[in-house]
Amino acid sequence: MSRAEDILEKLTLRDKISFISQMVMERADLSEYGMKNFLLADGPSGIRMMKETDQEDIYDTLPLTCYPSASTYASSWDRELVWNIGQHLGREAQTQNVSVLLGPGCNIKRSPLGGRNFEYYSEDPVLTAELATEYIKGLQKEDTGACIKHFAGNNQETRRMTINEKIDERTLHEIYLRAFEKPIKEGSPYMVMTAYNRINGEYGAESNVTLRDILRKEWGYKGCVVTDCFGAHDLNKALINGLNLQMAGESPERLEEEITEMLQKGTLSIEQLDQAIRPTIEMAVRCEEVSRKESYDPEEHHNFARKAAEESMVLLKNKDDFLPLNAEDSIAVIGGMGKNLRFQGGGSSHVNPYRLEQVYESIVKLCPQAIYAEGYTDDISSGEMIEEAAVVAEKCDKVILCMGLPEIYESEGYDRVHMKLPQCQEELLQRILEVNKNVAVVLFNGAPVEMPWEEQVSAVLEAYLPGEAGGGAVANVLFGKVNPSGRLAETFPFKISDTPCYLNFPGRWNEVTYAEGIYVGYRYYDKKEMPVRYPFGYGLSYTTFQYSNLQIIKKDKEIQVSLELKNTGNRGGKEVVQLYIGKPGKWFECPIQELADFQKIWLDAGETKQIKFILKKDSFGIYDTDIHEWVVESGTYRILAGSSSRNISLEGQVEWTEPKEYPDITEHTNLEDMIRLFGKEQQLRELFKDNPVSLGFLERCMSEDPLTQSMGTLMSFHTLRRIDNKLTEEDIQRMLKELNQRS
Ligand code: BGC
Repeated sequence: MSRAEDILEKLTLRDKISFISQMVMERADLSEYGMKNFLLADGPSGIRMMKETDQEDIYDTLPLTCYPSASTYASSWDRELVWNIGQHLGREAQTQNVSVLLGPGCNIKRSPLGGRNFEYYSEDPVLTAELATEYIKGLQKEDTGACIKHFAGNNQETRRMTINEKIDERTLHEIYLRAFEKPIKEGSPYMVMTAYNRINGEYGAESNVTLRDILRKEWGYKGCVVTDCFGAHDLNKALINGLNLQMAGESPERLEEEITEMLQKGTLSIEQLDQAIRPTIEMAVRCEEVSRKESYDPEEHHNFARKAAEESMVLLKNKDDFLPLNAEDSIAVIGGMGKNLRFQGGGSSHVNPYRLEQVYESIVKLCPQAIYAEGYTDDISSGEMIEEAAVVAEKCDKVILCMGLPEIYESEGYDRVHMKLPQCQEELLQRILEVNKNVAVVLFNGAPVEMPWEEQVSAVLEAYLPGEAGGGAVANVLFGKVNPSGRLAETFPFKISDTPCYLNFPGRWNEVTYAEGIYVGYRYYDKKEMPVRYPFGYGLSYTTFQYSNLQIIKKDKEIQVSLELKNTGNRGGKEVVQLYIGKPGKWFECPIQELADFQKIWLDAGETKQIKFILKKDSFGIYDTDIHEWVVESGTYRILAGSSSRNISLEGQVEWTEPKEYPDITEHTNLEDMIRLFGKEQQLRELFKDNPVSLGFLERCMSEDPLTQSMGTLMSFHTLRRIDNKLTEEDIQRMLKELNQRS
């Protein structure tokens, strides 16, 4: 018998019940079972380690490394880097006796206003899934468990604990669940945290759909499912549907009463209770059997946090090679964030950093003559502060202006209400431009901002929320110690009213309709042919790359794609090669293109490499809501490769054939569709040879006159049945059968 089974057998009912609640369990004395209580701590970008249990101030935590936020390191598009972030976090967690770190967050960025966007990866489910899988694998390599969250659909903070999201089935699968599927199936996180919100009427912690049918049955997840903090509702339904643990919640007495009542009434059996607590015991045993690491090297972790930030920052604009800067340049650094770095978001992910590196101090190390003016503090400034900054800006050849969102703008618990930077910062920029046109803006923000001034400045570096060593990383990128290689994991729209869910975010009263469906992020902007400030996947480098020689080979059940990438500039650098596919969209409404895969590649100056991808059938999947399954259309697929979703350099095609053409012809399929989509003209002629009336309608389909033509094309068996007296019910069934016969 396994140790977990052995413990389960010995547990008293009372202790069994304590295993339902993380809060109760943390305090229960489990020593008589030879067990220690395990410890959960918040991530995902650092460890929020409370000094005392039960303390009120959630920000009073032990100093530990603050890595860049997820929105930042997602822009690295670098699987290996993200694995390493996981590993560093895992090692650090080990030394703090943390058994499971509450991360990664795999919610999709539906709107740029989402208050927790900085904790999430992308608007794209494939990018999210790929990076989260690596994070989990890296973390768990160090025997620290991952807790993927918030499953599913926690895409806004407004009314997050009650909001009912109306999401259609296809969108739920193709966008919101897809982001979780691979990390859960391949990463095998110790825990899954359910989301607060409701989806189509059901809370995440007890859902018949997302929890029972998808996570447990379809994906076969066997680990521990925990609610978000105070996120349990109907505990009885939840336990039966696959929930194991309730984070925080009622008192031990109340919980005991509640479960005892369920057992007495028979709405929960003792077997179901055992089944509910088994994964938690197994996990606790697994966490205990680890030989804990005593220490880690905080300096190494700090330096790694800097590297992670350097690999992630996105160079958005660099007019006339304004950057990189030189050590001899005359430079003014301006902005409160230059000396008081905005490096992380607010809420449960907030970390007390080990050591902070500021932008100005880091620039001075590389360029000692650089001078500084504050100009603003967060969203406050004065005429005097602005004038002082203008004087400093005028004295120098080049200005580095640090702008960004104050911490209070971006946090768990609430959404942003607009996408603008604080007005005083924009006023400061305008005043500086009056005295010095050579301005590079460095942005600190967890999610996109409007940039009406973009054309007036020479360079823009999106530093996102770069973690505790972000100041050093900014300096290294600005001065070319590091060649920028970040690419946007989300679109930067011009303005909030351009966004796909503008009319439906954050919803009316307690309900929000995901009316944009699968058209989230670039899927929407592409389809609408809308210009955007910066597209998904975009980012500049100090070197340039050339794509050539696309080869596409179909082999059995996979498609092999290769291309050549050349570094055509004069310094080494990394490119993110992005592969998109365009589905035939014969039966289903489809986006113009969807990310299928990507690789981040280093090339020395002048070097050429061959890049290879293998596309499997699941890249082509579409969720069919008629049969509630993934299907693949037969037809011509476009394969597109490039450096962003709007900079496709190479395009090719490949045919994919599925044994079953999709879907069946029914009595409601019209003649036009039978002819055009199914290619059945000849067969219909044969079938109708003894039915002159029906044949007549078929002939009309060929007419040059559009009205006459429509008299044919719009007919179906359902309509013909009423017009063609010779067409019997038997004929119709026989004909449908023949039409649907596959070769
Ligand atoms: C957040 C979770 C977090 C939990 C524990 C909740 O408010 O939504 O992401 O892990 O608190 O702090």
